[in-house]
Amino acid sequence: MSGIIVFLMISIGRGIAVQLAKCGAKVLALDVTKESLDKLKAEMPEIDIINVDLCDWTATKEAIKKAYPIDLLVNSAGVGSIVTLMEVTEEKYNVIFNVNVKALINVTRTVIENLLDRKSPGAIVNISSQAAIAALPNHTLYSASKAAVDAFTRAVAMDFGRNGIRINSVNPTVVMTDLGRRFWSDPVLAEPMLAKIPLNSVAPTCFRT
Ligand SMILES: *[C@@H]1O[C@H](CO)[C@@H](O)[C@H](O)[C@H]1NC(C)=O
Ligand SMILES: *[C@@H]1O[C@H](CO)[C@@H](O)[C@H](O)[C@H]1NC(C)=O
Repeated sequence: MSGIIVFLMISIGRGIAVQLAKCGAKVLALDVTKESLDKLKAEMPEIDIINVDLCDWTATKEAIKKAYPIDLLVNSAGVGSIVTLMEVTEEKYNVIFNVNVKALINVTRTVIENLLDRKSPGAIVNISSQAAIAALPNHTLYSASKAAVDAFTRAVAMDFGRNGIRINSVNPTVVMTDLGRRFWSDPVLAEPMLAKIPLNSVAPTCFRT
């Protein structure tokens, strides 16, 4: 495998990057947090890292184009949000939709352009969330953003399947990464979600965070 690109934010993407590198893929990891990247690089020196804010489209596009050719894209950068409808502000709305939806659409487009130019098959995996499908308390913005990811994924899969480009979304429950712990250590928040899960447990991580 060559030219693999992975986006992460101290999250599920980190585990995916490490596993892909272990499988022999050439991995490029993009993250907004330099410390997370330095930690990843120290653990897996073969992974290339770029410190970039996905909301800065000029910088992001430049980083992606430098990494061409790209065969596999994992869109795993995401921002969590737990607010009631009454707490929604324009700013909160923009942060969630810029990262979870708009950046994802832009990055996907740039990678598909490269695949089409090379007449190459490819695969894109979007890390969506159970919140796209299940009702959870105070998930107003987050659920809406992840449902947008799922719908976008279906639409693009239909248009580019004929070019050998697969695009799928994965909808995990909470995974206890550093990011997961930040939101879900509070039992008041965790209880209603756990009550809906027959195993009464969130997903563990199999990698060091
Ligand atoms: C997405 O791309 C458009 C240009 O096609 C740009 O204007 C916009 O700022 C980008 N947004 C994000 C969040 O990347
Ligand atoms: C949802 O938000 C409201 C208002 O902030 C709060 O009172 C309530 O406890 C929250 N529910 C959960 C499950 O976090």
